[in-house]
Amino acid sequence: MRGEGPARGLFVSLEGVEGAGKTTQARMLVDHLERVGIRSVLLREPGGTPMAEAVRAVLLDSRFSICPEAETLLFLAARAQNTAERIRPALESGITVVCDRYSDSTVAYQGYGRGADVEIIRGLLCYATGGLWPDVTILLDLDPSQGLARQTVRNRMEDEPLQFHRRVREGYLAEAEAAPERMRVLDAAASPEILHGTIVGIVMGELARSGQGRRAAGAGGP
Ligand code: TYD
Repeated sequence: MRGEGPARGLFVSLEGVEGAGKTTQARMLVDHLERVGIRSVLLREPGGTPMAEAVRAVLLDSRFSICPEAETLLFLAARAQNTAERIRPALESGITVVCDRYSDSTVAYQGYGRGADVEIIRGLLCYATGGLWPDVTILLDLDPSQGLARQTVRNRMEDEPLQFHRRVREGYLAEAEAAPERMRVLDAAASPEILHGTIVGIVMGELARSGQGRRAAGAGGP
C-alpha cells in the first residue's frame, strides 16, 4: 500500500500469543509517537468501532458455542468495519495507525490454530480488508505456557488448550519466515523497556523511509 501518496500514514500491527505484552507495547509506542510529534491512533482487534466492539463481546464470551466458520466470519466482520471506518480514513489523512492485532491473528488463530485452510482465510481477508496489510508487523514471540500463566481471567479464546496456542505460535513464526520484510520477530521474554526501545527503532526507521519521520523531526521530507 505504500507509495499511494506521500501523506499516507504508516500502518503498524502488533501480534503474538496471549500474554505476550502487545497491548502494553502498543500503548507505549503510541505515547512515544505522540511525544515526537507523529500523529497516531491506537486501535485494537476485534474492536475499534461500536459495531466491532459488539462483535468482540460475542466472540470472547465463553458462554457461546461458535463454530469455526462463524468465528472466522465474525472476526472478519469486525475487521471489515474497523478497516473501513477507522483504519483507512486515518491512514489516508496521514495518521499512523498502531493496531493491537490485525489480519495475521486470523491466519494464526483461525488458520493454524483451528485448522482452517490458510489460503481460504487469505482470500476472505482480502475481501474483508480490500487487500490492506500492515506496513510493518511486530511479532512478540513467547512460549504460550508463559503467556497464559500471565492471564488472570480467561476469555473464550484463552480457554482453548495449550496445544491450540502452540499451533498459533508456530503459525505466526511460519508466517514471519515467509514475510521477513514486513514481520519482525522479537523475544517477548525481554523486559518491556528493552522491547519498547527495539520497537521504536523499527517504527521510526519505517517512518523515516516513508518520509514522515524526517518531516516530524523537522529535517524536511519529500
Ligand atoms: P484479547 O483479550 O484482545 O486478547 P489479547 O489481549 O491477547 O489480544 O482477545 C482477542 C482474542 O481473539 C485473542 O485470543 C486472539 C483472538 N483473535 C482471533 O482468534 N482471530 C483474530 O482475527 C483476532 C483479531 C483475534
